[in-house]
Amino acid sequence: MKILVTGAGGMLGQALVPCLESRGHVVTGLTKEDLDVTDFAKVMEAFSGLAPELVIHSAAYTKVDQAESEPDLAYLVNGYGTENVAVACSHLQIPMVYISTDYVFDGKRNSPYTTWDQTAPISIYGKSKLAGETAVQRHLNQFYILRTSWLYGPNGRNFVDTILDLSTKQKTLRVVADQWGTPTCTLSLSETIADLIVTERFGVYHATDGGVTNWCEFARQIVSGRDVPVEAIETKDMPRPATRPKYSVLDKTTLIQAIGREVLPWQEALSTYLDLLKEKQPV
Ligand SMILES: NC(=O)c1ccc[n+]([C@@H]2O[C@H](COP(=O)([O-])OP(=O)(O)OC[C@H]3O[C@@H](n4cnc5c(N)ncnc54)[C@H](OP(=O)(O)O)[C@@H]3O)[C@@H](O)[C@H]2O)c1
Repeated sequence: MKILVTGAGGMLGQALVPCLESRGHVVTGLTKEDLDVTDFAKVMEAFSGLAPELVIHSAAYTKVDQAESEPDLAYLVNGYGTENVAVACSHLQIPMVYISTDYVFDGKRNSPYTTWDQTAPISIYGKSKLAGETAVQRHLNQFYILRTSWLYGPNGRNFVDTILDLSTKQKTLRVVADQWGTPTCTLSLSETIADLIVTERFGVYHATDGGVTNWCEFARQIVSGRDVPVEAIETKDMPRPATRPKYSVLDKTTLIQAIGREVLPWQEALSTYLDLLKEKQPV
């Protein structure tokens, strides 16, 4: 397929483009510098010129805490920007993949959210991403909305790299243990996306790695083997501008049915990523 990826300079975009290419697709990755999705005329021009058969919209405003103080920008990129992409896809009569988030849920459920559960975002970021979902569904019949969570991977600011870095600088780490979810590696998510887009089973999907954990246990797994204790704290001990869902595990039954395989347990995906980091370290 001829595929256009927006936000190709981002963490997911940088994993996704080579993954799709390895499957034989012809991929054009556009970074923010190449294409600002908030400029509708530019979006139309780029899409018409490149004539893709599918667009994967990975560009987003992703600063969860900062969004609380600049909601207009979060909505501009995640709401209107996504609407621009959806309208351009509608003009070209091509399907679109929209990468969404577990933060569209309020986290009060305490059992995995299904794709038909009611959304109720509790942060500006979550609300703006939901605005993007609504725009996609308003303009297109053929779309994949993929909600993912707790992303980490090569080439991006992420929790795994931060914890590894802090473990070399601090004697003890303090990490919240009362927010539950599923870490997801951009490498395994890219494989999932590549599997899903050839199914033509359009719809809303939950696409994370497998299993459940909290940030503290995740951090302990990241530094396991290192002599750095990770102290469990509560969210109230570390106030942040944006409220996070307490529980945002996503039920992946629909995805597993569509791609015909299980997803990778988060521990396995993490172990692969940590091995990759070790390989990259200078000896
Ligand atoms: N990271 C997570 O934990 C997480 C969890 C769930 C869902 N998601 C979703 O997954 C997708 C990929 O996230 P990610 O972690 O790869 O985020 P990321 O690294 O921040 O990538 C997003 C990219 O979009 C670019 N961008 C921002 N505004 C833009 C605009 N107006 N036009 C075009 N590009 C623009 C960013 O550029 P600048 O950096 O230069 O602004 C960045 O390169 C996003 O849709 C995000 O909402 C992420």
